[in-house]
Amino acid sequence: MSIWSKKSIAQLQNEEGATHELHRTLSGVHLMLLGVGAIIGAGIFVVTGTAAAQHAGPAIILSFVLAGVGCLFAGLCYAEFAAMIPVAGSAYTYGYATLGELVAWIIGWDLILEYLFASSTVAVGWSGYFTAFVRDYLHIQLPMELTSAPFDVRPGSHIPHATGAIINLPAVLLVAIMTGLLIIGIRESARINNLIVYLKVGVVLLVIGFGAAYVQSDNWAPFIPENTGTFGHYGWSGVLAGAGVIFFAYIGFDAVSTAAQETRNPQKDLPVGILGSLAICTVLYMLMALVMTGLAHYSQLNVPEPVYVAISRAGPALAWLRPIVSLGAIAGLASVVLVMLMAQPRIFFTMARDGLLPHFFGRVHPRFRTPYVSTLITGVVSMTVAGLFPIGLLGELVSIGTLFAFIVVCGGILLLRYTRPDIPRPFRTPLVPVVPILGILICGTLMVGLGPATWLRLVIWMGLGLAIYFGYGHKNSRLGHQDAASGKPPQLGGQS
Ligand code: ALA
Repeated sequence: MSIWSKKSIAQLQNEEGATHELHRTLSGVHLMLLGVGAIIGAGIFVVTGTAAAQHAGPAIILSFVLAGVGCLFAGLCYAEFAAMIPVAGSAYTYGYATLGELVAWIIGWDLILEYLFASSTVAVGWSGYFTAFVRDYLHIQLPMELTSAPFDVRPGSHIPHATGAIINLPAVLLVAIMTGLLIIGIRESARINNLIVYLKVGVVLLVIGFGAAYVQSDNWAPFIPENTGTFGHYGWSGVLAGAGVIFFAYIGFDAVSTAAQETRNPQKDLPVGILGSLAICTVLYMLMALVMTGLAHYSQLNVPEPVYVAISRAGPALAWLRPIVSLGAIAGLASVVLVMLMAQPRIFFTMARDGLLPHFFGRVHPRFRTPYVSTLITGVVSMTVAGLFPIGLLGELVSIGTLFAFIVVCGGILLLRYTRPDIPRPFRTPLVPVVPILGILICGTLMVGLGPATWLRLVIWMGLGLAIYFGYGHKNSRLGHQDAASGKPPQLGGQS
């Protein structure tokens, strides 16, 4: 049994053909909506303001361009993989086909940072908007002890300290409700998601359209504020640091690929879903950042609800828009949590089918046809994390984990073009090797910008993952057992 054993593409495609346990109900447009649902969230509604105020000023628009280009390159690679191997496991499965079991496990474990921890992160952001909404419009003051994280980490420190709060209860309850929805069924969940996505995009368009009329161009000068002497504090290094921070806003388009088994025509629909949702969001983000930094001076945007604050700067003329922005953020962030909570169990499901996780992770509900056990496990862990930790710490961990997965996906596309040029590719990443190499370089640069504390957490998380792989997955791997039973050397990515 080798840790480098690979699954052949044919084997993956056969498995896909044999697995009809999950309902195939989603179209390309559904996937695009799913993607937009996952992408537009706490990033644009919360993080943009902080990043403009602390790092880039109005040049945060350039940060959005830089992070967007990195995501576009990674997205093109994701689309090739997703169309070639349309199974539920996303980057995990792609890794299994190209780089072997150990790397597949590392990616699968890493993706928990992206999906499960992202659901917690956005739930925490949601809790902030929700608490402010009930305070301002329903005049109910929820106690701080029940609406914020009991643990936080001081800048430069690795040790969490108690904040005096008990639990972030709204965040926990949101995850609980979304988990319930997902157990009942994907079709129902997708329908609710579609509604919310229209609402969320509508709010963003309203802010851009009406806000543009009240922009004060003085706020855009200087466009790139002068660097203060510290790396990442304005100037060009600030644009770079800003890109690392707002990268979080783009996370989610790859979640589309995890719905491959529930897609009617994966070869065509997956690229449409991934690239379409990314393109829509990139344009919206740049316009939104332009309007926000034009309405308010960037120094005023360092708040938990920067879109709301920017609109307020337009005075009474846009007062009608304020509650709409709040409600849009509340509904919008909830839909992000939903998609993230949907993606994670499908990766667990695939890993369990491969024997790398215990079988019960792969159990499908007899009536609802959903991976209910892994959905429940995901929900409970996500609730716990959301209830205990603050958004800043979680967001950076999510970003570094996602960037790592993007790099592996770009590398996999590059490798497979040379080792297996014969595999049919319904969608081909253009300009190989330029696109994957640039994807790796840009994502790598953004990772470097995330700082040593976040790197340390990534290393600890990965260490834990390796211990589990060698303690369980390696011994129970289905591929390993097949190889041993056949007495043949493990498949090295060849057609079977
Ligand atoms: N891109 C998602 C968000 O901004 C994770 O909330």
